[in-house]
Amino acid sequence: MSVVFSHPVSFAALGFLFALSSVTFAAGASSGANARSPPTRDQWMALADELDGRLRTALPVSSPCFDTVNGVHVGRNETECAIVQQGYTSPLFRSPRFSPQMNPNWETCQKTAAKCLLDSSQPNNSVAWEGVECDQGSVPPYYIDVQSAIDIQVAFRFARETGVVLSVKASGHDLKGRSGAPGSLSLWTRNLDEMSYSANFVPEGGNESFLAITLGAGVPFEDVYEFADANNVTIIGGYHQTITASGGWVMGGGHSILSPVYGLGVDRVLQFRIVTPDGQLRVANKFENPDLFWALRGGGGGTFGVVLESTMLVEPQMKLQVVSVNFPQTPENAQQFLKLIVDQTPKWSNEGWGGHMRSFGLINVNPLLTLEQAKESVQPAVDFALSQNGTAVVEELPSWQAFFSKYVVSAEFDVGAPLILGTRLIPVDLFTTEAGKAKFSDVLNNIVTQFNITPYIIYGTPYLFNHTEGSTSVTPAWRNSLWHMSYMGGWAYNASVEEIWAQYELISNLTQMLRDISPESGAYSNEADVYEPNHEESFWGDNYPALLEIKRRYDPDGLLDCWQCVGWKGLEDDRYNCYL
Ligand SMILES: Cc1cc2nc3c(=O)[nH]c(=O)nc-3n(C[C@H](O)[C@H](O)[C@H](O)COP(=O)(O)OP(=O)(O)OC[C@H]3O[C@@H](n4cnc5c(N)ncnc54)[C@H](O)[C@@H]3O)c2cc1C
Ligand SMILES: *[C@@H]1O[C@H](CO)[C@@H](O)[C@H](O)[C@H]1NC(C)=O
Ligand SMILES: *[C@@H]1O[C@H](CO)[C@@H](O)[C@H](O)[C@H]1NC(C)=O
Ligand SMILES: *[C@@H]1O[C@H](CO)[C@@H](O)[C@H](O)[C@H]1NC(C)=O
Ligand SMILES: *[C@@H]1O[C@H](CO)[C@@H](O)[C@H](O)[C@H]1NC(C)=O
Ligand SMILES: *[C@@H]1O[C@H](CO)[C@@H](O)[C@H](O)[C@H]1NC(C)=O
Ligand SMILES: *[C@@H]1O[C@H](CO)[C@@H](O)[C@H](O)[C@H]1NC(C)=O
Ligand SMILES: *[C@@H]1O[C@H](CO)[C@@H](O)[C@H](O)[C@H]1NC(C)=O
Ligand SMILES: *[C@@H]1O[C@H](CO)[C@@H](O)[C@H](O)[C@H]1NC(C)=O
Repeated sequence: MSVVFSHPVSFAALGFLFALSSVTFAAGASSGANARSPPTRDQWMALADELDGRLRTALPVSSPCFDTVNGVHVGRNETECAIVQQGYTSPLFRSPRFSPQMNPNWETCQKTAAKCLLDSSQPNNSVAWEGVECDQGSVPPYYIDVQSAIDIQVAFRFARETGVVLSVKASGHDLKGRSGAPGSLSLWTRNLDEMSYSANFVPEGGNESFLAITLGAGVPFEDVYEFADANNVTIIGGYHQTITASGGWVMGGGHSILSPVYGLGVDRVLQFRIVTPDGQLRVANKFENPDLFWALRGGGGGTFGVVLESTMLVEPQMKLQVVSVNFPQTPENAQQFLKLIVDQTPKWSNEGWGGHMRSFGLINVNPLLTLEQAKESVQPAVDFALSQNGTAVVEELPSWQAFFSKYVVSAEFDVGAPLILGTRLIPVDLFTTEAGKAKFSDVLNNIVTQFNITPYIIYGTPYLFNHTEGSTSVTPAWRNSLWHMSYMGGWAYNASVEEIWAQYELISNLTQMLRDISPESGAYSNEADVYEPNHEESFWGDNYPALLEIKRRYDPDGLLDCWQCVGWKGLEDDRYNCYL
């Protein structure tokens, strides 16, 4: 699929970018002794030559709707603007394009309110562009459409020579702004789209074979699920069409509603192919570069190198029991239902349920029970919904693909609007001890009644999964938790910096209430409070020191860095200028 609104680098495109008054090209550590000047035009041209058309320039996706772009009068293009308006809230529009992020707050400079956004609630609202200038914000002005290891090796060498800031993007799902940086050169892996299935995959250097699928670091889950289904197998993956299976999802942890039985993404990955910042193309698995393999199983994306592909263990086709209940929420029934699901969670968890639950319903699945057993197990939730004039369905579906297309596509998170999350892994004892339950219920009721926020409960911790101790680098809190609990903040496309800040503060405050009652637990690095305090401890626990050592081993010059990632350079680094 071609990328609209982007151009291969040529003298004309470069001249245009250099003329843009507000586009600055960040150089590595620009403070202190390491200060570097940005790459020269000649350096960019040499890079363009070397990459043979794969170095491209980018403008914000909504730029055709604006008269003035980065300080230059260009005039609206109605035809292109109409395409953007039509696709604005569709993940299938955003995913194959370079500039958009799923949540466009990460396309903007939140600190200065410089942006180029449409009104997601009504993309044809002309108030968004009339008399408003489009600003590059955090959209990288240059990117490489990565096709092979060589492109990545060239980029690392260029960054070492020029000091240009690098960023890495696959799908743009990141909820913490880690797949872009203002003024950066981005490595975009979206077009690494190969998939292969093997009934006897042997990791390099190993002697045991597995049922497995290998996925390029651009393939969205929707395509992965279709491919797995066509091969009569089940792959464990995320609750959205366009997250990249081999990108930040798996490297940060990767939860699925099948994770309670089959583990997290990090539990199922068998091998990565990756270019590390020292320029080496490497295989990382149990036998080759096992330290790197361990780090990639939870240490996070954008940190240890650029992944070309990963290979995941898959399961045979399986039937799933599904329960879907919904009812019109009132303040009273919301509290009652939350109490009901807290009470049921220990039993349901032992039976293998996973799902997504709200204060007004749930969609849960179970790969272990029969339909009769499933019906009996979820009867309390069904009865409750029906008593509240709601609806309830319990059914058996023949496959994950059948479940995904029937339930997930219509229930997945919306995209296109500014959105942030706060989360906490909720440990077992807050469900199983009277004291724990009392504390947890208080906080839940507070969130719903005082703050008027409906929690989004991700029921997807690897509770029944028998993992090998020490095999992954995610926080061990995942293994001792029953919920990965989240709640969302958001704002209008034209919110002021103060309004944006208030949402972050609210999310941090809610998260603090949960930290206070679960001090030993942690949070999911991919979906946490953007301003998580003690993030090393929260995301990795005791694994952090070893992760940091591995980061330094494979990226001695610190060419890769991202927000609250392993080895994070900290807020002072130029690339974080747009964080509040
Ligand atoms: C709508 C929505 C639904 C979600 N649902 C789920 C879910 O069901 N389960 C779940 O676990 N999480 C979910 N998430 C969170 C998701 O796991 C993270 O957003 C994750 O970072 C996405 O990875 P990505 O590669 O697709 O995104 P990107 O934004 O492209 O990248 C995320 C991070 O990975 C890095 N990265 C990307 N590609 C590579 C590569 N090839 N090599 C090295 N680093 C790379 C980036 O630099 C960045 O740091 C969801 C997020 C959203 C917005
Ligand atoms: C608008 O964009 C379309 C499609 O890219 C292009 O064909 C057309 O020439 C543009 N119009 C103007 C006025 O630039
Ligand atoms: C904008 O779109 C809405 C439908 O989404 C439509 O009702 C409205 O008339 C449109 N407004 C303009 C100015 O085109
Ligand atoms: C596989 O390798 C292990 C050591 O890594 C060895 O103990 C085992 O015997 C080998 N198995 C086979 C089937 O070769
Ligand atoms: C698919 O897998 C199931 C379960 O392993 C098996 O029973 C069935 O025969 C397979 N079907 C095909 C078409 O391979
Ligand atoms: C359910 O609907 C009926 C009929 O509309 C109404 O009388 C009743 O009060 C409703 N019950 C609840 C709990 O909303
Ligand atoms: C996990 O291990 C236990 C004990 O060895 C076993 O009873 C159980 O079936 C295993 N669970 C899974 C999902 O394999
Ligand atoms: C945002 O835009 C809406 C109309 O689209 C307008 O009513 C509102 O006042 C604007 N808010 C700010 C802070 O500019
Ligand atoms: C967050 O908590 C602080 C400290 O208690 C308080 O001052 C602030 O008003 C709270 N902010 C929001 C948005 O709830």
